[in-house]
Amino acid sequence: MGLLDGKYALIYGVANRRSIAWAIAQAMSREGAKLALTYQGERVEKMVRDCADQIPGTLMIQADVTDDAQINHVYDRLRDEWGRIDILVHSIAYAPEEELRGSFVDTTRAGFGTCLEVSAYSLVAVTKPATALMTEGGSIITLTYLASERVFPNYNVMGVAKAALEASVRYLASDLGPSNIRVNAISAGPISTLAARGIRGFTGFAKAYPERAPLRRATDPAEVGDTAVYLASGLSRGVTGEILFVDEGFHVLGM
Ligand SMILES: NC(=O)c1ccc[n+]([C@@H]2O[C@H](COP(=O)([O-])OP(=O)(O)OC[C@H]3O[C@@H](n4cnc5c(N)ncnc54)[C@H](O)[C@@H]3O)[C@@H](O)[C@H]2O)c1
Repeated sequence: MGLLDGKYALIYGVANRRSIAWAIAQAMSREGAKLALTYQGERVEKMVRDCADQIPGTLMIQADVTDDAQINHVYDRLRDEWGRIDILVHSIAYAPEEELRGSFVDTTRAGFGTCLEVSAYSLVAVTKPATALMTEGGSIITLTYLASERVFPNYNVMGVAKAALEASVRYLASDLGPSNIRVNAISAGPISTLAARGIRGFTGFAKAYPERAPLRRATDPAEVGDTAVYLASGLSRGVTGEILFVDEGFHVLGM
C-alpha cells in the first residue's frame, strides 16, 4: 500500500529528467498517486513527454505560469479528467541570466519584476484555482533555497524572490488552513539542474555542501522527492506554513 494511494497530484515544473519536480513526480507515483505534469511550452515538451511516458496514465498539460488563461485551462482539464486535486507541487523559478551574475545592486526594474512574477507570484496564481478542486482538503508544496535568508554570490534577485515565496507560503497557509489545505516549502540543497546552472558560480557553492554540510554529501533529488511525499501525505497532517530543509543540514552552520 502506498502513502498516496488514490490521490491526484498536479505537478508544475518538470523540464527534463534532472528537474526536482521529476524526482518528486517519481516518488509520488511510487506511493500510488496519479499524476498530471504541466510543461512551460514547446521548447521542453519532448523532454517532459519522455519523462511522462515512463509513468503510464500521466497527463501532460501546457501552462506558462505568466498566462492566466493557460493556468485556467489546466484546471478545466483536471475537472473533466479527475474531478478533484489533492496535491499541488510548484517547482518553478526564472530570472533573466544577466540578473544571476555580478552585484545585486545592479538588478534592473524589469529583471526584478520578471523574477518575482515567475518565481513567487506564480505560486499564488496556481494555488487560487486549485483550491476550488481541493474538495477533500489538500497539500501544496513549493521549492525554495537558503538564499532567501543568507547572501549567496550571484543568487541576487532570486534570493529576494525566494524570500517573497516563503512569505507567500505563510500567508497562503493562513488563508487555506480552514479548508484543510496545507501549504509548505522544501528548501533543497544545490542540485545540478537547468535552472541551477543558470546561476554563475553554482558549481562553486554546490561543492561546499559535500565538504561542509553535517551529512557530508550532496543533496540527492530523491531525498527531496521523499520529503515531498511526507508533506503530501497524512503523515504531515499537522504541518503547514513550514519551510522544511532538505540540505544535509547545511543551513545550521554558522561558519
Ligand atoms: N536546483 C537547485 O539547486 C535548487 C535548490 C533549491 C531550490 N530549487 C528550486 O527548485 C525549483 C525547480 O528548479 P530545478 O532546479 O528543478 O530546475 P528546472 O530548470 O528543472 O526547473 C525549473 C522549472 O521552471 C519552469 N518555468 C520557468 N519559467 C516558467 C514559466 N513562465 N511558466 C511555467 N514554467 C516555468 C521551467 O520550465 C522548469 O520546468 C525552482 O523553484 C528552484 O529555485 C532548486
